[in-house]
Amino acid sequence: MIVFVTGGAGFIGANFIFYMLKEHPDYRIVCLDKLTYAGNLSTLEPVMRNPAFRFEKTDICDRKAVFQLFEEEKPDIVVNFAAESHVDRSIEDPEVFLRTNILGTQVLMDACRHYGTKRFHQVSTDEVYGDLPLDRPDLFFTEQTPLHASSPYSASKASADMIVMAYHRTFGLPVTISRCSNNYGPYQFPEKLIPLMIANALADKPLPVYGDGLNVRDWLYVEDHCRAIDLIIHKGQVGEVYNVGGHNEMSNISIVRLICRELNKPESLIKYVTDRKGHDRRYAIDPKKIHSELGWLPETKFEDGIKETVKWYLNNRQWWETIVSGEYKHYYEKMYGNK
Ligand code: NAD
Ligand code: DAU
Repeated sequence: MIVFVTGGAGFIGANFIFYMLKEHPDYRIVCLDKLTYAGNLSTLEPVMRNPAFRFEKTDICDRKAVFQLFEEEKPDIVVNFAAESHVDRSIEDPEVFLRTNILGTQVLMDACRHYGTKRFHQVSTDEVYGDLPLDRPDLFFTEQTPLHASSPYSASKASADMIVMAYHRTFGLPVTISRCSNNYGPYQFPEKLIPLMIANALADKPLPVYGDGLNVRDWLYVEDHCRAIDLIIHKGQVGEVYNVGGHNEMSNISIVRLICRELNKPESLIKYVTDRKGHDRRYAIDPKKIHSELGWLPETKFEDGIKETVKWYLNNRQWWETIVSGEYKHYYEKMYGNK
């Protein structure tokens, strides 16, 4: 079995590659990644010499390069993680989000059509559903919830989802889509809430909490997401969407306080800053479908996962310190300088 993993030098894609090489040692895994600011080849260092693994620096929007790789490898399955993934960046500069997240997805599906790939799996997000109110804890996103994206990022992901479904209906392309909640774990780029707060707290820098800090996200340990995708690509029904989440809703401020406690840092580091434009209030997934159809349930409890994650960032300082001291520093000053 040959599996293409796009965006595999990023956070979830890299964790997925490690997961697949461990769970399916007889598979060949080919990673296509453009290595944007968010892609880090050092993450893949442990598998670079594995004969079952190949890395190709490729932009998924580059039709010629993508078709060339399909010609060489003839993949059975394509799992598309490649994306611009950070909401704040999409508010600053939407264009690249539309290009990569929508047009890149189309290029991959055209190649799948041309080469008869047996499954195209789109890694989507719960953000396509918009948000839920804080005062209705009884409401959850199901697969039937209408798409109602808020940010240029989530709108680009929702657009891609619609095109994926259109390719299924119009051309019969065998597709599946997963819509997962917020992931956390090793190798997450320190622009996202949890690693940013860990990195800042360790440097005794302010911890910038947007708005009132009461926005809620539904956190899932990255390996649980990887297992869900593995199940969907093997046992999921073609043409179906699967929501992935573990009923683990937490407000941002409670996460930041927890990180302070884990690192033994004072809460006086917390600084409330200007809110994100269009900030979604609450995300919450109803995972009944993937549980009843595929038997998936999250295995890592948040209390354990967050401890593991903090430990990982403490033990792998070089990985993220290299990032924080480089190009990302300019981004950080631009985004947080005036907040
Ligand atoms: P990430 O930003 O850490 O990684 C994205 C990867 O895609 C990087 O390696 C980058 O180099 C690569 N990439 C970007 N543009 C590319 C292009 N044009 N061609 C090839 N590669 C390109 O993102 P992540 O957090 O690992 O998210 C992966 C996927 O999962 C995304 O599609 C995202 O929408 C989705 N998702 C993320 C979360 C989350 O909590 N992080 C939750 C649900 C869904
Ligand atoms: O829900 C899935 C989505 O989760 C994915 O599709 C996205 O790719 C991923 O980035 C993530 O989006 P969020 O916007 O929820 O994640 P982020 O880590 O950027 O922010 C989480 C919450 O924390 C959000 O309410 C904004 C807040 N926040 C974030 C940052 C970076 C802060 O309060 N301060 C910060 O500095």
